[in-house]
Amino acid sequence: MSEAIRRLVQGVVDGSLSDDELAEWLRDVFDEGLSEQDTVTLTEAMRDSGDVLEWSSDISDLVVDKHSTGGVGDKVSLVLAPALASCGLKVPMISGRGLGHTGGTLDKLESIPGFSVEMGISGIREQVEGIGVAMVGQSDALVPADRRMYAMRDVTGTVASIPLITSSIVSKKAAEGLSALVLDVKFGRAAFMPEREHAEELARSLVDAANGMGIATTAVLTSMEQPLGCAIGNSLEVLESVETLCGRGPEDLEELVCVQGGLLLQATGLAAGFEAGAVMIHDSLHDGSAFQRFREMVQAQGGDASVLDSDASLTRGLGLMGPELNTTELSSGSAGWVEDIDAMAIATACLGLGAGRTRLGDIVDRAVGAILEVQVGDRLEVGEPWMVLYHRGEMDRGVLEGLLGSITLSDEEVVPKSRIAEVFE
Ligand code: URA
Repeated sequence: MSEAIRRLVQGVVDGSLSDDELAEWLRDVFDEGLSEQDTVTLTEAMRDSGDVLEWSSDISDLVVDKHSTGGVGDKVSLVLAPALASCGLKVPMISGRGLGHTGGTLDKLESIPGFSVEMGISGIREQVEGIGVAMVGQSDALVPADRRMYAMRDVTGTVASIPLITSSIVSKKAAEGLSALVLDVKFGRAAFMPEREHAEELARSLVDAANGMGIATTAVLTSMEQPLGCAIGNSLEVLESVETLCGRGPEDLEELVCVQGGLLLQATGLAAGFEAGAVMIHDSLHDGSAFQRFREMVQAQGGDASVLDSDASLTRGLGLMGPELNTTELSSGSAGWVEDIDAMAIATACLGLGAGRTRLGDIVDRAVGAILEVQVGDRLEVGEPWMVLYHRGEMDRGVLEGLLGSITLSDEEVVPKSRIAEVFE
């Protein structure tokens, strides 16, 4: 079977496997699944279908990355990658663009004037060896097998297969030449896999495949019922990321950054345990070192780092002070403690304002989005604003209607819970 899988992947890239043969094989895997060993073989063959980053022996044990299955307001990568670098790790982070209700790291970074996410393999290697972090897009040279397989999965309705998702995600991360990996697998109404048991199954499969390939991997299972942090929309999320890099971020975002960073510092032996690692990340956010590393990365990738120097220049630089950008406040009709904010409704509203793509190739408006004035557990009085929408021109009535009922208040005090449900090793 192993040899057959390797030959199949070879046929995917050299064109000797026809579309019909590939479609038939994908349907078989979709229906029957794949054993753990075959999933590892498939993932390794996909990784080896293109270039694989190689690192010198003095840093190879320190090369790490994270992957999230995607969420609303999920800007963990923007904060975590520079924080890890400031703690001594090396982060060649290759990310994607947003599609549907989830945002993409590349779109967020491109809100910074001049920031380029295009870089060849030698550029990534040089920047990671130098300042410890690069955040870039996928090049054609990495995992070419995934492009053809994913396109075929899309048209044959075989995307939602755990072994196929696993090999697609892990092969791309493995091509970065990682020593350790942390995965943020989300469940809840705005997650890629809303049902917790499906997300658990995916987390287990991802961890087993990546560990099976020699990458020390953990997965954090996290709730995606409410938006993460308070900012949703590309520029607004960069603003909140900078706040978090300066130790002024929302607690839920800071917790995810510290825990995921702590797990990677533990896995690479730079921290004695994950709590000690989480403290190192926390310190880097509060002593300015993570922000400094972010600034260096922005500069190295052609971004205008001077916009980061003050709140006013940052908001201007991100286009959040433009005369054509309007704001609309939504106020509460009643008083109470915030029990729930529907991440899917907020994401759909932001999509309606132009913050994301419904189809690959759609143009994204990086300035529009929303800021939540409250999070779960906060007290809200009658007439107090709970959300501000950033939009162009007149506010769209359909967007406003879609937000009706998206916040739930309780008469009883609400204690916010950690988003982390479980950690898989
Ligand atoms: N993300 C990927 O990269 N691949 C999948 O198959 C699903 C999500």
